[in-house]
Amino acid sequence: MDPGAQIYASACSTCHQPNGAGVRGAVPPLGDPAFSDPTVLVAIILRGVEGPVRVGRVTYDGAMPGFSGVLTDAEIAQVASHVSRAWGDGGAPIDSAVVARARAKAAGAGPWKGGQAMAGLSPALAPQPAWTGPAPWAADPAVLTLINEGRGEALACSGCHGPQGQGGDPIPRLSGLPSAYIAAQLDAFASGRRSNDQMSGVARALSPAERQALGDYYGRQSAPSTATPSLGGDRQAGARLALQGDWSRDIPACFACHGPSGFGGGPRLPALAAQQPAYTAAQLAAWASGKRTGDPGNLMGDVARRLSEADRLALADYLAGLPSNPAAARKDRR
Ligand code: HEC
Ligand code: HEC
Ligand code: HEC
Repeated sequence: MDPGAQIYASACSTCHQPNGAGVRGAVPPLGDPAFSDPTVLVAIILRGVEGPVRVGRVTYDGAMPGFSGVLTDAEIAQVASHVSRAWGDGGAPIDSAVVARARAKAAGAGPWKGGQAMAGLSPALAPQPAWTGPAPWAADPAVLTLINEGRGEALACSGCHGPQGQGGDPIPRLSGLPSAYIAAQLDAFASGRRSNDQMSGVARALSPAERQALGDYYGRQSAPSTATPSLGGDRQAGARLALQGDWSRDIPACFACHGPSGFGGGPRLPALAAQQPAYTAAQLAAWASGKRTGDPGNLMGDVARRLSEADRLALADYLAGLPSNPAAARKDRR
């Protein structure tokens, strides 16, 4: 494989997908003429971008990390040339001297703030939406009290799930999970449909309205991932199962339900990317043994029973190494 394609596969494809098509509602497709100018491409790869960006007719409002600290000038030139050849205008290969000049200009600057900030880079970029900054969203103070101080048996969530809901293995990440999913799990712990020594008492001490409000709160959060693959699973085997499944064993692709890159597939389909690995492995085992049930149609029970112990570790470690949903990174500001 050409070096640019290799860098693409390891640095870009989990979000933009191997075919450059992106993830609906979360990650834009590559190859739009407005973003195919080498100057624009290199500037975005170096600094990253967050806030509203119009690609074709769709406005995205996510966050992409910059790669200035991760990739060398030559590597950025190679991956930008690959993107341009594969999906863009396929112009002349980009020279690393172009990257070096852009890096000098970008020194110390954070991510581009929305598409309009980049408009000066190329005439093709106009018109782009303006950066409006964080929209005020004030969490209900009563919810913040529950999270940080707790109330009787409703122990403070942050004490176990971390100050930003990022989790800490084996306690799950809540940040950015769908609000309806979180509320439904709290209801399940409260009613006994799902049971856990630490969570059942906490959930029973919350009113239904509080469970919903806590779901709304964590659904808007976007803590960076703190998960690290740590179970010794075979991450390549995990990637194959997640992306393609294994039809010889009747295992469907996880991402067919959980969304491309495991960023979540809808209100009742939680994100798996960036989840704490021992938690993921334990849940898969709980479904396989029938200890966890209650999901719509018992879809997960059917899937989990076909997985071996090695599959569970492979999947958990692979998922732990993925970035968290980049669109969730802006949800807290809407
Ligand atoms: C963590 C996920 C993530 C990774 C990894 C990532 N991107 Fe992005 N990228 C995004 C998101 C999200 C946006 C839109 C950001 C916004 O809405 O402000 C974006 C926007 C872009 C754009 C401008 C819009 C477009 O679709 O043309 C380009 C070009 C781009 N990325 C290229 C890359 C390249 C090349 C890499 C690898 C070196 C990469 N990205 C890695 C998530 C990612
Ligand atoms: C004493 C530690 C502790 C406290 C306090 C705690 N949790 Fe948990 N929580 C856990 C553990 C452990 C699990 C994993 C349960 C399992 O394995 O089924 C969990 C699971 C969850 C889940 C299910 C996540 C998923 O992905 O399915 C939700 C939702 C949740 N907690 C919300 C909360 C909220 C909201 C609070 C505060 C009101 C809270 N928790 C307080 C330990 C705690
Ligand atoms: C047919 C759809 C479907 C497929 C395929 C599927 N899942 Fe799920 N998964 C679900 C649903 C629905 C839930 C939510 C269950 C609930 O509400 O209790 C879920 C929940 C989960 C959870 C719990 C997340 C949490 O935060 O507690 C894990 C882990 C999980 N799935 C892993 C996988 C893996 C790994 C695969 C692939 C081997 C997979 N899923 C394939 C539908 C699916």
